[in-house]
Amino acid sequence: MFTLTFTSLALAAGTIISTALAQNFPNQSAPYNLKLISDDPTLGGKFLWACHSGAAIEQLCVSDTAATSAGTFYLNTSDYGSIEGYKTGALVWNLPYGGEGSNLIASSALRYGWNPATNVVPCYFLPGDTGSDITNVGLDSENKLFVPTYVDDVITPNGSQLFYKWHVCNSQFGGYRYKALSWVTVGEPLNGGCRPVNVSAVLASV
Ligand SMILES: *[C@@H]1O[C@H](CO)[C@@H](O)[C@H](O)[C@H]1NC(C)=O
Ligand SMILES: *[C@@H]1O[C@H](CO)[C@@H](O)[C@H](O)[C@H]1NC(C)=O
Ligand SMILES: *[C@@H]1O[C@H](CO)[C@@H](O)[C@H](O)[C@H]1NC(C)=O
Ligand SMILES: *[C@@H]1O[C@H](CO)[C@@H](O)[C@H](O)[C@H]1NC(C)=O
Repeated sequence: MFTLTFTSLALAAGTIISTALAQNFPNQSAPYNLKLISDDPTLGGKFLWACHSGAAIEQLCVSDTAATSAGTFYLNTSDYGSIEGYKTGALVWNLPYGGEGSNLIASSALRYGWNPATNVVPCYFLPGDTGSDITNVGLDSENKLFVPTYVDDVITPNGSQLFYKWHVCNSQFGGYRYKALSWVTVGEPLNGGCRPVNVSAVLASV
C-alpha cells in the first residue's frame, strides 16, 4: 500500500519535473551566422559572436568575420508560435562546456536583460529556453531577425506586428563593457552609444 502510494507520488513528481523542463522550442533551424545591416560603416557587414559576460552568460558582440562555433546560431521554434505566417521562437547558441576535448554543449536561448532605468535592453544567452525573459524572435522573408508582438501600445488595442529595433550599443552588462546587440523599446535610445542595425541570418557553411 505504502509502496504503491510512494511510487505514484514519485511518478507524479517526475511528471511535474519533466513538464517543467520540457522545451518550449524543440524544433531547431539550420545553423546561421548573424550579419549586421547598418548605415554605420563600422557596423554594416560585420558579424555577431557570443562573447563571455558571466558564468554561462554571453552577449552578442561585433566581429569582422563570422566565427565558427562562437558565431553559429539557430532559431528554435514550435508549432505554437507564429505571426503573419512566420514561425517564432528563441535564438539559440550552443555553449561548449566540459573543457578541452569535450563535446558537451548547453543549448542557450537569448533573453532580455531588462533594466527599468533605460529603454535600451541588453540581450544575453543563458542555458535552457524557459523563463519570461526569453527574447521571442522570428526570421522574415528576407531572413531579418524580428521581434513579434501582439500589442503595440502606440495603437492599442490593435497592433500585432513585426518590430526591428535592434541596436549595437556601447553598453555595460554584468560588469562587462562591450559593443553589444541591444533592443530599444521605444523612442531614441537613452544610451548615446547606440546605433540602429538589422540582423540578417545567413546560412552558415558547416
Ligand atoms: C533547440 O532545439 C534542439 C533540437 O531539438 C534542442 O536540442 C535544444 O535543447 C533546443 N534549445 C533550446 C534552448 O530550447
Ligand atoms: C516540430 O516540427 C514538426 C515538423 O514541422 C512538427 O510536426 C512538430 O509538431 C513540431 N513540434 C512542435 C513541438 O511544435
Ligand atoms: C489593425 O491594424 C491593421 C494593420 O495595421 C489594420 O488593417 C486594421 O484596420 C486595424 N484595426 C483596427 C480596429 O484599428
Ligand atoms: C530594419 O528593417 C526594417 C524592416 O525591413 C526597416 O523598417 C528598418 O528601417 C531597418 N533598420 C535598419 C537600421 O536598417
